[in-house]
Order: sequence, then structure tokens, then C-alpha cells
Amino acid sequence: MPSLKTITVSLLATITQLAAGLPRSQLHARILGEQADVKDEYDYVIIGGGTAGLTVGDRLTENGKYSVLVIEYGVYHEQTGMDPSRMFNITSTPSPSLNDRQFRVGLGCGVGGSSIVNGQLMLRGTKEEYDAWKTLGGIDSDWDWEGLLPYFKKATTFSPPDKEIADEFKIRYNAEYWGSETPLYAAFGMGRPANITKKLHAAMSGIEGVTVADDSGSGQNGVYWYTTSHDPATGARSYARTSHWDNVPRDNYEMVIESKVNRILFDDDMAALGVEYVPVNDTGSEPQRVNAKREVIIAAGAIHTPQVLMLSGVGPGDDLKRAGVDVKVDLPGVGSNFQDHSYVPSIGYSWGNPPPTEGPGGPMTAAPNLVAMIGMPALVPNHYEDLAARYEQQDPKIHLPESYTSEQVDGYSQQQAVYARMMRSLNTTFNEMMLFGPGGSIQNMHPLSRGTIRLNAQDPQGQVVVDYRGASNELDLEIMADNVHFLRRYMASEELAEYQPSERYPGPSYNTTEQLMEWSRSQIIPSVYHPIGTCAKVPKEHGGCVDEQLSVYGTKKLSVVDASIMPTTVGATTQLSVYAVAEKAADLIKARTFD
Ligand SMILES: Cc1cc2nc3c(=O)[nH]c(=O)nc-3n(C[C@H](O)[C@H](O)[C@H](O)COP(=O)(O)OP(=O)(O)OC[C@H]3O[C@@H](n4cnc5c(N)ncnc54)[C@H](O)[C@@H]3O)c2cc1C
Ligand SMILES: *[C@@H]1O[C@H](CO)[C@@H](O)[C@H](O)[C@H]1NC(C)=O
Ligand SMILES: *[C@@H]1O[C@H](CO)[C@@H](O)[C@H](O)[C@H]1NC(C)=O
Ligand SMILES: *[C@@H]1O[C@H](CO)[C@@H](O)[C@H](O)[C@H]1NC(C)=O
Ligand SMILES: *[C@@H]1O[C@H](CO)[C@@H](O)[C@H](O)[C@H]1NC(C)=O
Ligand SMILES: *[C@@H]1O[C@H](CO)[C@@H](O)[C@H](O)[C@H]1NC(C)=O
Repeated sequence: MPSLKTITVSLLATITQLAAGLPRSQLHARILGEQADVKDEYDYVIIGGGTAGLTVGDRLTENGKYSVLVIEYGVYHEQTGMDPSRMFNITSTPSPSLNDRQFRVGLGCGVGGSSIVNGQLMLRGTKEEYDAWKTLGGIDSDWDWEGLLPYFKKATTFSPPDKEIADEFKIRYNAEYWGSETPLYAAFGMGRPANITKKLHAAMSGIEGVTVADDSGSGQNGVYWYTTSHDPATGARSYARTSHWDNVPRDNYEMVIESKVNRILFDDDMAALGVEYVPVNDTGSEPQRVNAKREVIIAAGAIHTPQVLMLSGVGPGDDLKRAGVDVKVDLPGVGSNFQDHSYVPSIGYSWGNPPPTEGPGGPMTAAPNLVAMIGMPALVPNHYEDLAARYEQQDPKIHLPESYTSEQVDGYSQQQAVYARMMRSLNTTFNEMMLFGPGGSIQNMHPLSRGTIRLNAQDPQGQVVVDYRGASNELDLEIMADNVHFLRRYMASEELAEYQPSERYPGPSYNTTEQLMEWSRSQIIPSVYHPIGTCAKVPKEHGGCVDEQLSVYGTKKLSVVDASIMPTTVGATTQLSVYAVAEKAADLIKARTFD
């Protein structure tokens, strides 16, 4: 039975449709079919119609004063979900500290970007993790929890769980941390969670130092139930396209698809004039040009934003020269500071005395989902202080890419000081564990290693060179070993004893930290598809790429708005933080005055 709300919404949609005289499939802003339809000039040109790009595009066009052209590499997909046809095909370089393994770089491609293919978890980090962005940004920064909370709210519409299920499963939530205006839904699944989650909840929250958060969005960590980005009325994916492109037919909001931006054009004063782009199916053809009156906004995601900058002559000078690109601004921070979450897919347990079977279980949108977000002091009470102290004292140069300038090394030293503090705090999440069955995957939410995105010197316009440099700081192996110790402690909880958990993999022969570190070399995957940091918002003298306004250093009328600007990871999947960054960025951009 559709709810009254559903009926009203679809009725409204039909009326709008009739009024616009458009078939349903065209009920969105205009995708220009013919090159000739693209105007010579727009107020804003946005590179990349992904998660951040469409959010900013929507906000900049909503008052009707400004025109926007979005240039998107991919197509308008009818289907969503993690499928190779909707993704880029990039393989990383080998990571020497991870036994020279190479990794698939997961990235969405199409109108909506990575939000087309992502796992829909709607998580945000803890207060401390956003406050770190402010600390790293300098004294006047307002990129902290307080400064971002209004945008987390603005970005979303919250939908609560079923009341009875919430009571039965101790689902805590608080709508105050969420919004109700933007049709990007953060919704609880309506199905019934597996009964075993009650026991898992009790086992995890019974561990000393593990708290139960008021809401997944409260800025606290610990155990909490979380929402996913789906429309509560239909169950359909709710994502950048459905919330910031579809159903916003506006004359001043246009897009070209299947088009790759090659570079940004500058005047002699390094003010961005516009961009050059080519059709994806004919990249050798003569580039088209479009001008931006007010600003060019790069939103190509953390892997491709550095590429567009470097191809435009903004990036690490030596690298650009090697690739035959004229250096316009020698900005070493472009493509550095590359981070992602890392994980070990499975610590295999089985129940000797299994609970009754209850359907598939596991992360899904059909029922509310449970997760644990754990700080170091709870994770390894006897080890965290030692780890923090050793990390603090490391000479960063030993672990960082050789190309790092002294300014970049200084910038990393700042991160080191902030992270050492965070390692000593319960309120920063170092480990994420989904709670749904025996064992599970373990994630390191704050890897200490830093990778790079570089141009391929032989083929600069071709795919970028992605180097995770996974576990180049070997403390990352130790942290993963600590995560395994923690998972074992959790599985040994009294609350779970009746199910007789036993570890199948890696098993008792991997017992000491040293053994588990060695095992981690063969197991860690240095990406959970959450790339960030490659055009970081930190001061230039600390190796930064954009300032507090998200303007690219050494240029004018050029901003970056996407996951690249995050200086450090947060203890949460990234999409909601990207939406909040884009909402805040739109306000900053609209507030700018031009002479
Ligand atoms: C498989 C997968 C699962 C994930 N699961 C989750 C999850 O469950 N929860 C969560 O919170 N996060 C998840 N994420 C992460 C989250 O989706 C991303 O962090 C976020 O969507 C990134 O947004 P963005 O705007 O920075 O980049 P994107 O959304 O990737 O947008 C970049 C856009 O730029 C386009 N582009 C690139 N280069 C060019 C060019 N030269 N010219 C024109 N266009 C270009 C791309 O095609 C793309 O559309 C997942 C990601 C993936 C890939
Ligand atoms: C990646 O490969 C798949 C085929 O497996 C293809 O359909 C898709 O278009 C490719 N992605 C890009 C961005 O070229
Ligand atoms: C590229 O695709 C367009 C339609 O999308 C088509 O008209 C054109 O012929 C194609 N060009 C090449 C070189 O394949
Ligand atoms: C789950 O718990 C409910 C309520 O206690 C019970 O009615 C139901 O039978 C249980 N399901 C299974 C599969 O054990
Ligand atoms: C950590 O969070 C708890 C609430 O979960 C709060 O009471 C405590 O003050 C916080 N500690 C610090 C150091 O911020
Ligand atoms: C694992 O190590 C602990 C001490 O850290 C020891 O007590 C235990 O016996 C060891 N188990 C195995 C199977 O070696």
C-alpha cells in the first residue's frame, strides 16, 4: 500500500510533468544532445557531474540568477549499483609493503558519479575527526563539526525506523542531527533485523570503553544503527542524480555527457577562463571550448581532480615537465596526500551452535543495520599509548614519497601530531566493524600511509597512475593486527558463548602481533572506495592545494569541490561528508563577490 505521502509526491510529479509538457524521462535539467546547443559562456562550468558536482550545480542554479554547465565523462545510466559498466577501469601500481599486490580502483562513472554505484551507507565521522580539519586548516578555519553540522542537515531528509522494531532492537536515533528539505534520503530499512544482532549489540557494547551513540549522526562513535540512502517510499537508491538533477528542470542548469575535460584555460593572470573538452568516444578530435564568466569548479573526484589540474599546468613541477605539460603553478600538493580507508575482507568465524537461520542477514537496505566504530583506547587498551608515542616520534620523511617537499613534510608532521592525539582518544574511530554475523570484515579508518596520483608521463591524457603506497608506514600493519586482536576479544564475549564461535581464518597459527602483521601484508586492501585528500584544504606552506574558500592556490576563479579537499579521512564512509562539503562550498561560492 503506498502511503499518502507517496501518492502526493507522485501526483505532484505528474502535475509538474504535465506543466512542463515533458515525458517523464526528460523531467530533469537539460542534457544537451548536440554540441551546437552548448552556449559559449556560462556563469559557472562544473567539471564532473558526480556526487559533489550535481549538489553544487543544483544550489548555484536554484535562485535562477546564474547559469551552470556540467560536463560529465559518463552517460545518464538507467540502472544503478556496482557494475563495471558504470565504473572506471583503473588498476593501481603495486604496493611494495603489501607484497607488491595491485588493486582495483573503484569509482563510479556517469551522471551521479560514485553515488550511482556506492553501498548507500549514510555515515558521518565523529566530532573530533572534523575538528581535525579545522586544526589542520589554521586558526581562522570554520571547517569543523560545528561548521559542518548545518550542512549535514541541509543535505538530507531523515526517515525514522519502525517504532516497534526500534524499541525491540534498541535502535537509538535523533532527528535533530538530520534535515527534512532536500530529497536525499537517509532512511532506516523497514524490515526486521536478524535476532542475532541483539546479542552482537550486547557483546560489543559490553566491551570496556565501547559506548552506545545517541544517533549515527551525533558526532559520537561506539555502537549505532545507521541509515542508508534510499527512498523510504519506494526503496529505490537515493543519490546525487535523484536529489540534485532529476526533478529540477531549470533553463539555467545544463549538462553535456560523454565528454572529458582535458584542461582548464587561464589568462595571463592565472584567472580561469573556461575549459576544453572532447567527446569520450573520440578523444583525439579537436577540443571544444566553453567559457566560465564567474568560476570553473572542479568536481571530478579524488582520482581525477588532480589529473585535470595537472593537465592544466597546476601541480608538481617536475612531474608535469616529465609529462610534457607547461608548468603554470608549481603546486606539489596536487595528487599527494592520497588516502582511503583500508580493510581486511574477512576474519572467518563459524558458530558451533548456530542460531536459527533468518534469511540473508548482513548489510542491506531492507532492515536497519548495526555497526561498531571503535577508538584506539577501547580497541587495544594495553597498546594504544605505546603506538601513539611511537607514531608521534617517527621521522615522517622515512615513510612519505621521496617527492615530498619540506613544506609537505611539515604538513604531514601536523597530521601526525593531530593523529597521535586522536589515537589516545576514545572518540576518534580507528576501527569500523559491521555487526551481522560471526567474524566479519575489519576496517582501519585512519591509515597513516599516504599515496599519490600522478600523470602517466607516456600518456598524460590517458588514465592516471594510482599508487596507494599501502602500509608504506608499517604501523598500518600493526594497527590491522590490533584490529584482529580486538575482533577475537569481541568474538570471545560471554554474550556469544552459547553460539560457540570458532575462528576458521586466519586461525590460531597467526597469534602474535608480528605474525598478524605478516599476514596483513597478504590481506590488506588499501581501498574501501573512499579516496580523498588529493587536493587538500590546508595552508600552502603545509603542502596544501586549496584554501579555506576551496580556491586553488596560485589561481583565480577556480575551485575544487569534492572528496579531494578533505585533508584527512573521517571514521565513516565518505558520501555524506562529500554532500556536506558540497553544500558548504555552494554557500561559499555564492557569497563571493567579483570585481
Ligand atoms: C563501489 C563504491 C562503494 C561505495 N560505498 C559507499 C557507501 O556505502 N557509503 C558511502 O558513504 N560512500 C561510499 N562510497 C564513496 C562515495 O560514493 C564517494 O566518496 C563519493 O561519491 C565521491 O564523490 P565525489 O563527488 O568526490 O566524486 P564522484 O561522485 O566520483 O564524481 C566525480 C565525477 O567526475 C567525472 N569525471 C572524472 N573525470 C572527468 C573529466 N576529466 N571530465 C569530466 N568528468 C569527469 C566522473 O565520471 C564522476 O561522475 C563508495 C564508492 C564506491 C565507488
Ligand atoms: C569499464 O569496463 C566496462 C566493461 O567491463 C565498460 O562497460 C565500461 O564502459 C568501462 N568504463 C569506462 C569508464 O570506460
Ligand atoms: C560518438 O558517439 C556519437 C553519439 O553518441 C556518434 O554520433 C558519433 O559518431 C560517435 N563518434 C565516433 C568517432 O565513434
Ligand atoms: C526472532 O525473535 C522473535 C521475537 O523474540 C521470535 O518471535 C522469532 O521466532 C525469532 N526468529 C527466529 C528465526 O528465531
Ligand atoms: C567523548 O565522548 C563522550 C560521549 O560519547 C563524551 O562524554 C566525552 O566528553 C568525550 N570525550 C572527549 C575527550 O571529548
Ligand atoms: C597466543 O598468544 C597468547 C599470548 O599472547 C598465548 O597465551 C596463547 O597460548 C597463544 N595461542 C596459541 C594458539 O599459540
